[in-house]
Amino acid sequence: MPAKSLEQVRNLCMRRGFVFPGSAAYGGVASFWDYGPLGVELLNNVKKAWWQDAVYARDDMDGLDAAVLMSRKVWQHSGHEATFNDPLVDNKKTKKRYRLDHLLEAQTHEVRAALYEATGSEDVVGLVHALMGQPGNAPMQLHSAQVIDPANGEQGDWTEPRQFNLMFQSHVGPVSAAQGTDEEKAARVYLRPETAQGIFMNFAHVQRSLARKVPFGIAQIGKAFRNEITPGNFIFRTREFEQMEIEFFIKPPQFVAEGEKNDEQWHEEWVQQRYRWWLRYATPPSAGNVEMEETESRFRKRAQAADELAHYAKATTDIEYLFPGALGWGEIEGVANRTDFDLSAHSKDVPEEDLKRLKLEVNKDSNEKFDYFDPDAKARYIPWVIEPSAGATRALLTFLCEAYHEELVKEPTKQEIDQIRSDAAMIRKNAEKKVKEARKDIEAGKEPKHQPDKVEAFLAQLEDVVARLPASLDEVLLALDHEGAQNLEPVKKFRPPTEKFMEDCTRTVLRLHPALAPIKLAVFPLKKNKPEIVELAKSIKQKFQKHFRTVYDDSAGIGRLYRRQDEIGTPYCITVDFESLEDGTVTVRERDTMAQERVAIDDLHDYLLPRLEL
Ligand code: GAP
Repeated sequence: MPAKSLEQVRNLCMRRGFVFPGSAAYGGVASFWDYGPLGVELLNNVKKAWWQDAVYARDDMDGLDAAVLMSRKVWQHSGHEATFNDPLVDNKKTKKRYRLDHLLEAQTHEVRAALYEATGSEDVVGLVHALMGQPGNAPMQLHSAQVIDPANGEQGDWTEPRQFNLMFQSHVGPVSAAQGTDEEKAARVYLRPETAQGIFMNFAHVQRSLARKVPFGIAQIGKAFRNEITPGNFIFRTREFEQMEIEFFIKPPQFVAEGEKNDEQWHEEWVQQRYRWWLRYATPPSAGNVEMEETESRFRKRAQAADELAHYAKATTDIEYLFPGALGWGEIEGVANRTDFDLSAHSKDVPEEDLKRLKLEVNKDSNEKFDYFDPDAKARYIPWVIEPSAGATRALLTFLCEAYHEELVKEPTKQEIDQIRSDAAMIRKNAEKKVKEARKDIEAGKEPKHQPDKVEAFLAQLEDVVARLPASLDEVLLALDHEGAQNLEPVKKFRPPTEKFMEDCTRTVLRLHPALAPIKLAVFPLKKNKPEIVELAKSIKQKFQKHFRTVYDDSAGIGRLYRRQDEIGTPYCITVDFESLEDGTVTVRERDTMAQERVAIDDLHDYLLPRLEL
């Protein structure tokens, strides 16, 4: 089962260094988050997996990294300055502020029905349009319908709803003029609310510099900023986030030749392609068919209704994930057919019929026409665009929720405890025999296979632990780690099932796809006071850290170290033990199955690389 609440994921993120609240020393600042040592690795891996799929794995894509700040004119002509708004309303009594649509959705059926009747609308979207379109009347209508403030459950004293632009403003250079004056407006810039416009601005640069033929696309990853009214649900909706966007330029419908894909087919193809990407990285290689089906049931494609579409879109299909708890289904990516809206909006000399079709004004500011001469169609046109747009930070949350598995502390049964006791008895019998043999060897002046004192010290510890079962359950592995337990055959035999049993009792595991895992490999010495073992473990760490994130840890017993790595999704752990010194092999333990294998140190590279899917 994946995470049951966002709280579980949030706790893990803070505890283990994935995500921290921003500006925490000053009490934090609403909905800004910092990505810690593990968070930055995971986020980088998400972006890498996206770039790999969007750019490297294709013949028709190039990358871009445009500036965050662009001319204000970009946002005027894209339509964002006029329409990138949320409708807001305040309760004068409680001073609470709401997005009008959210407030209406929180009302009872009766309250909404009264408003539908008064305004002649049929749904919340229509209601918002109606209320915004009747300046002066809305407060009275909200009052007559007895619209409740969810904060206190009482009827509110509502202000006139107003549009609130979501773009953060700043200024280039020093500006002292008041807001709205010509001087202020001339210096005004916006932090981009989508990375897409940087791609449109560079369409001609990329096409000409690389002599690209349509169809081709441009991919970009970068920060976006929205002054969201209702940020929240941890990092799901934030005011600063990261997007991974593709603008894929295609022929306008009238130039599509026989056998070529039209805009709707390209749209569908991108929806499928992106959906597959999400499933691929949400499913660890260890997943069986049942688990894969369960994962797939938490992802869906949903075509937006006409009244949900952004001002530029002919059609949009959202890819959604079923987040845990109250959040439920949430958009993780939108795949939009933006037609020729944006490139036309930023072009001069666009034919009048196209301006009319796209509901655009003549652009008198632009000195560029974003058109393209198609050598096959022997025609010049402004390309259409299919836009798959995903959130990188939202993807991180999605993959964490899906990967999170909490395996509850299991009360061991009497039978399981008896099994440990009988295993311990077997170990004791064998160890006592080995002690006798070792003493004989010493008496005969031969090199003993075991150190009798150490084996006896181990037996004393084991006896103590077994006597206190089940309270001492978490000390069993610790006892098996004892120096005197090394090279005792029954210990070797019983360690894997005992370890498995202990981990089954309590374990949180992030079943992340290995390509996304923040740390790929953890190396442990079985004994931190054995310099040869420590040295060998560190040398293995050094060998692999050149290739991928590898850590060395000797701060606890092996069982605990495994659990710590499980909790952060490390796909492989290596334990170096006494046998390693003798035969050059180590124990490699896989995170999801907990299966252990002895692998020669020389073969580790070939063993790990394909399994990590890097
Ligand atoms: N260029 C199109 C565009 O920006 P969008 O649906 O507004 O479309 C695309 O955003 C994706 O960006 C969303 O599917 C989501 O993953 C992410 N996103 C949007 N707003 C966000 C926010 N406030 N916080 C985190 N991610 C956000």
